[in-house]
Order: sequence, then structure tokens, then C-alpha cells
Amino acid sequence: MKKEVLKLLKDHQQTYFSGAKISEKLGVSRTAIWKVINKLKKEGYTIESVSSKGYRLIEDKEIVNQEEIDLIIDENNLFSKGIYLETVGSTNDYLKKVSVEYADENIMVISDEQVKGKGRLGRHWASKAGEGLYMSYLLRTHLRPEKMAIMTQIVAASIVKTFEALSDVSVGIKWPNDIIVNHKKICGILTELDAELNRVHYIILGIGVNLHQKEFPEELEKKATSYYLETGKRLSRKAFIEEFLTVFTRYYTLFVEKGDLQEVLRVCTEYSVLMEKKVRLIQGNKAREVFVKGLNDQGQLVVKNEKNEEEVIFFGEISIRGIDNEYI
Ligand code: BTN
Repeated sequence: MKKEVLKLLKDHQQTYFSGAKISEKLGVSRTAIWKVINKLKKEGYTIESVSSKGYRLIEDKEIVNQEEIDLIIDENNLFSKGIYLETVGSTNDYLKKVSVEYADENIMVISDEQVKGKGRLGRHWASKAGEGLYMSYLLRTHLRPEKMAIMTQIVAASIVKTFEALSDVSVGIKWPNDIIVNHKKICGILTELDAELNRVHYIILGIGVNLHQKEFPEELEKKATSYYLETGKRLSRKAFIEEFLTVFTRYYTLFVEKGDLQEVLRVCTEYSVLMEKKVRLIQGNKAREVFVKGLNDQGQLVVKNEKNEEEVIFFGEISIRGIDNEYI
């Protein structure tokens, strides 16, 4: 019921909506409505109540809770379930656990904090409440496992387009999974696949966005940044999720239904911070210098290697640095 009241208030933010009208629409008593309104106020919503006119929602930008996630998912035709958590180990691991329960569904989860946030290559992803956006998306598909490598690029393209729509920071993509602002990382993507040789059970796309960190530990200072550090401003997690879902759903649907990756590849190329650059490619304890030529039609990196031959770099256990070992 909270969700329905919230939806009515959101849909009528220009005017007051009387308790009588709400109770008539939802078929519950005015007292019940009054209780829900009080609950919403306690949760942080600013709701004006004027006795002769009714209620009006003034401000709700930053609030993320189960109702808000439900309302976002209600508008989306790719995901059927959205889960909000206050805390979790890792949102990626959480989706793996509940994948059995939601056997045929595409689901998403967002958590205020993660106590075991995971980064790529077994690294830790610091995930304190109030600092970042931590979300994961589980998708089921009939596409073959080898087609899944492009998914990280679909997410990367969606993230840069989201930043572009909501802010004026200038973002870039460091293939395969980092989003960069001013030579530092603002967002990372962790893609995990559960598959047999010829069949995907599901793919999980985990996204961590540095939003409101005011500082980073010394070892990360040169490599990491946040939206706040770049702009001195806050960015609403809810707005980010909404915009991301809209863009991602469009790109993903084009890919799955039509095999169309044109826009994703264009965005990934246009925003790449590696194009036409000499970089250090680090695989295990081996590093070599290569020249980045572009992306192929599967979103893999095409480079000219140390033997002056064209080589395709696959996603996987790989890190990229600038020639002097700078982050890029
Ligand atoms: C990386 O750049 O190394 C990837 C970082 C991915 C972090 C996100 S936060 C949400 C999701 N849950 C996790 O445990 N990791 C990803």
C-alpha cells in the first residue's frame, strides 16, 4: 500500500491530493492513508499536508527503498523483480543465492552497503553506506556463452550515457570495465557468468559507482575518484538507477533481439580513453607495450603488438596501464 500511495503522490506533485480521494482510489480508510503518510514522512519524504486541500509530495530525490525500487521496476519491461537491501556481503553473490528462487526472472538488487564488495581479479571493492551506488543485475538469455563477452561493454556504454544525461562530468571508458573521469576511476563493472559450454544459465552484471566519497585511502588516491570529488555535488542514486535502466534496457534489447551492437560499439569507441594510444598490457606477471587500434565487432580490443602484428585482446585476467605505469 505504501508503494501505491507513493505512486499517487508522485504522479500528482503539482497539486494537493486529498486523503479522501486517495482512500477512494485505493479502497482503504482515510486513517490507513494517514498512517502511511506518517510512515513516509518518518522515512524522510517531505510531504506537505494542508487540512482543506490534502497532501503534496515536495521532495524525494535521494531516497532509495523497496517501494522506490518497485516503482522503477514497474516501468521496466526487462526486469521483473527489484530488491533493496540495507546491507549485504556482495550484491553479485546475493543474486547468485536467490537465482534459484527467481528461476525464470531477470532481477536486480541494490544495497546501501556491502561488507564483502568484490572487484575484478579478486580485489576488494570498498562499499560503505552513503558513499557509493552498489547494484547488480541478473539476466537470463538463450544466447551462447561466447556472446556474453560484449555485456560488459553494453554496461559501460550505458554508464557513460547515464553520467552524460544526469551531469556534466566528462567520462571515458577504460576497456574493458572501468569508467574514468580525469584519469581516475569513478565506476567499475564486475561481470560474472554461470554457464555450461553451450548454454548460459545467467549472467550477473555488478556495478559500483563512486558517488559521495570525500577521500580515498592513500593507495587509491591516484587511481580513484568520486562524483563528489570531481564536482562538489551529490548525484541521486535513484536518478542514476532510473536512467541507467532505461539506457541499458534499450541497448540490451537491441543486442538480444536484433544482434544490433552498432550504438554500443560507437559509444565505447567514442568514449574510450585508450584509442590510438600506446599502453602497457599486464597479464599475470607479464607486461608488454602495445598500440591500441580499436574495438572489433564483438567489443574486444584490437592492438598492434610488440611484433607489429595485429592482435585481439580477450576480456579476462588483464590490466591496462599507461606507458609510465600511470592509471591512464
Ligand atoms: C572492478 O572495477 O574491479 C569491479 C568493481 C565492481 C563493484 C560492484 S559493486 C556492486 C557489485 N557487487 C560486488 O561485490 N561488486 C560489484
